[in-house]
Amino acid sequence: NLNDIGVIGLGVMGKNLALNIADNQYHVSAFDLDPVKVNGVIQQEKQERAGLEPRILGCANLTEMLASLTKPRILVLSVPAGAPVDGVCSALISAGIESDDIVIDTGNSLWTDTVEREARYKGQFVFFSSAVSGGEVGARFGPSLMPSGDIDAWHHVAPIWKAIAAKVDSSTGLPIERFEPGNPVTEGEPCTTYIGPAGSGHYVKMVHNGIEYADMQLICEAYQMLHDGLGMSAAEVGDVFKRWNKGSLNSYLMGISAEVLKQADPLTGKPLVEMILDKAGQKGTGLWTAVSSLQIGCPAPTIAEAVYARAVSTQKSLRLQLSQKLAGPNAPAIDEAQKAQLIEALESALYCAKVCCYAQGFQLMAMTAHEQKWQLNFAEIAKIWRAGCIIRATFLQSITQSYEDNAELSNLLMADSFASALSEKQGLWRIAVATAVMQGIPAPCISSALAYYDSYRCETLPANLLQGQRDFFGAHTFERIDTPAGEKYHLDWSAKERTLAKV
Ligand code: 6PG
Repeated sequence: NLNDIGVIGLGVMGKNLALNIADNQYHVSAFDLDPVKVNGVIQQEKQERAGLEPRILGCANLTEMLASLTKPRILVLSVPAGAPVDGVCSALISAGIESDDIVIDTGNSLWTDTVEREARYKGQFVFFSSAVSGGEVGARFGPSLMPSGDIDAWHHVAPIWKAIAAKVDSSTGLPIERFEPGNPVTEGEPCTTYIGPAGSGHYVKMVHNGIEYADMQLICEAYQMLHDGLGMSAAEVGDVFKRWNKGSLNSYLMGISAEVLKQADPLTGKPLVEMILDKAGQKGTGLWTAVSSLQIGCPAPTIAEAVYARAVSTQKSLRLQLSQKLAGPNAPAIDEAQKAQLIEALESALYCAKVCCYAQGFQLMAMTAHEQKWQLNFAEIAKIWRAGCIIRATFLQSITQSYEDNAELSNLLMADSFASALSEKQGLWRIAVATAVMQGIPAPCISSALAYYDSYRCETLPANLLQGQRDFFGAHTFERIDTPAGEKYHLDWSAKERTLAKV
């Protein structure tokens, strides 16, 4: 009997994907260069489904794996992005992979690499990709999956992908969560949809991660304001986050942040968060999002600030020196009544800033889709982020609704529901930002989002002066407000008698 699917790379994600696929009745062949990992997944399945017929077969090499699979073969790659992906592809070619076999890259690959790979491996096998979000638990019990590439390959893979994806209750839009080995969620709407041509799925996942970076940083800024500004303990801030998590700020990230803040350090008994070194790591997807936004000219300042915030955090020794050297404000004391108001203001600020970072991410996807001629369906993308992925939040249901109402929405701030919510809350948002400024507490994401909001509110920006400056020193020309678009003018700035010329 041949198996349905092969999983190559049995690290945290690959192992859990294999177990998830097996839970959903499929027979899996599993391979890793490290035989200990192959044995690990076999043993785990044995433990979890004791006494039952195993559905995971360990393979000693790729030739054995290929021989164990039904044709056309489906092979899931779960290896680090970059060179390892091509390494496995070459090894598969040597092992005899066939032209209609499908290789699915599930790592956080750079989307342009995926585009190149589809072309490079054409004729040897079908290079398909599916970004995966949801970390270890997601991979095991239901991730959000963003597949893209050859459409026939998708039809082939879709039943398995729909089975293993996270599920949403279609009447409430909320995740159906059950974390029980051997008892997968089979009801509800699966969090996977065909995204588009090669590279588009990884692009969408990259932007998901950019939003993830910004969302995480926003929560961190709120923590710093409540902790350093209002003198609350980590556990008290955790309680505030728990409360917020019951309202419009409900999200997976808010929930885990509350848990982290309330956790005591097993070694010292102090709040664990205060024992964790304040240097943030990153693997690159947030940076790629920021770079892409700069390249295409899509304003995404909140996402970029989140990447910078991680960079500043890593410069600990410089921060230590400057903390002794640079003056801060004489912050006015905050009394109990103000404290309650500020907590309320911060909740609104966080909501508004969050809407802006999603607005930035979705506009970025729209601009790139236009450039790449991808037909992205934003309502579907918002839908598959409602469960399984790291940025899952009840709020995604409102985004889904906005794009269902108007698929051509140029920016989420144009949706009536978000425009009125932000208009109503912007006063409190300003109080939160002003307080952070007066207290000397950095809030780069909350405040850059406000600048983004205010920039888009401006009918006239000082870019008129900027164009004047450019024309002054470089004869870069400018358009006028009273002549047809595209007509360029230059003022002869260096002449004694300055004259205006149409160029
Ligand atoms: C997900 C995550 C996942 C991972 C990233 C972010 O959607 O499941 O985004 O892909 O956590 O690698 O990692 P960094 O914070 O290290 O960049």
